[in-house]
Amino acid sequence: KKVVLAYSGGLDTSVILRWLQDTYRCEVVTFTADLGQGEELEPARKKAEMFGVKEIFIDDLREEFTRDFVFPMFRANALYEGQYLLGTSIARPLIAKRQIEIAKLVGADAVSHGATGKGNDQVRFELGYYALKPDIKVIAPWREWDLNSRTKLIEYAEKHQIPIAKDKRGEAPFSVDANLLHISAEGKVLEDPWQEAPELVYSRTVNPEQAPDKPEYIEVEFKRGDAVAVNGEQLSPAALLTKLNELGGRNGVGRLDLVENRFVGMKSRGVYETPGGTVLQAAHRGIESITLDRNAAHLKDELMPRYAELVYNGFWFSPEREMLQALIDKSQEHVEGTVRLKLYKGSVTVVGRKSPKTLYSLAHVTFEEDQVYDQRDAAGFIKLNALRLRLAKAARG
Ligand code: ARG
Ligand code: SIN
Repeated sequence: KKVVLAYSGGLDTSVILRWLQDTYRCEVVTFTADLGQGEELEPARKKAEMFGVKEIFIDDLREEFTRDFVFPMFRANALYEGQYLLGTSIARPLIAKRQIEIAKLVGADAVSHGATGKGNDQVRFELGYYALKPDIKVIAPWREWDLNSRTKLIEYAEKHQIPIAKDKRGEAPFSVDANLLHISAEGKVLEDPWQEAPELVYSRTVNPEQAPDKPEYIEVEFKRGDAVAVNGEQLSPAALLTKLNELGGRNGVGRLDLVENRFVGMKSRGVYETPGGTVLQAAHRGIESITLDRNAAHLKDELMPRYAELVYNGFWFSPEREMLQALIDKSQEHVEGTVRLKLYKGSVTVVGRKSPKTLYSLAHVTFEEDQVYDQRDAAGFIKLNALRLRLAKAARG
């Protein structure tokens, strides 16, 4: 028996590693991914070796994450409950996918993760596992063991000589999840939704109040609905998102303090920073505004909340998400051109857009005299649209 563990190298997943070895007496294979969380990965290898792990996988998934998960989602302009850019939600299916690939590679029959039994992440991981390998066994230690307090966890770590970083001894002030798209903070000091989040939860954005007093102008170029260049420089998906994080972050763009509805039924309060994603979504809507047909745009906007909910609830690998994706991707055929944006003290504003495929017709819209539009046509247009309203009023008063 072998199990592939999604291993961060932190205290919690180290305890899980040891606990799996003890409880299931099975061989543990560790998998650590670089999703742009901005942490060293080599310490995770050292630690895994210390636990006697023989098969250690450490993968840089930043390009795949951005190209195959973040960008497709951004074509949809996905927002959960009107505000959340789904930074954690979109990373889980990729971790699940890679874990299953590794399980097949090493001949493991089980996978394990460090998500609790209260949250969304367990659902996202496990729906991904089952969708990709129906007979996989799932071990979710947080739902099984009795180490359900910090004290018990630390005791277990001490008993088994698991190194504990000094700052991890006390209660961490909140729980963090990070990748190239966002960094999230939840729990502890954030649990009272009436209390403002302390400034120390923010790490990717400067406080808008302290941001530069001068606006920064940037240009983002799109092809087929995906951003391909920033300020004239062609960049790979991950490099581009990294660049937008830097530009957004230094102007205080992308902070969000939100109470959201978890899939399991409870409400939770989260504080998110998505600087690059916030800029990217504004830019994408900017380029769509001149390149999408009105009805195509409205249709994809109607479907967007459904798409976002699927991603939030963990149904990335589902037929309905793929169907919506096909529709959204089709809509992006002519979404290309350049958007100019102004970043200023936490705000991002589209101030210019142009495209070789633009549908914007100055000839039609001008207030000056034109040769292409006959204003008299509008009278009949309005009269026929008013017909049923007039009939109803006349009949019923
Ligand atoms: N509430 C957000 C979501 O469900 C963030 C979850 C953060 N996860 C974590 N393990 N800290 O997408
Ligand atoms: C967790 O419970 O593991 C984190 C929060 C979430 O998944 O929603």
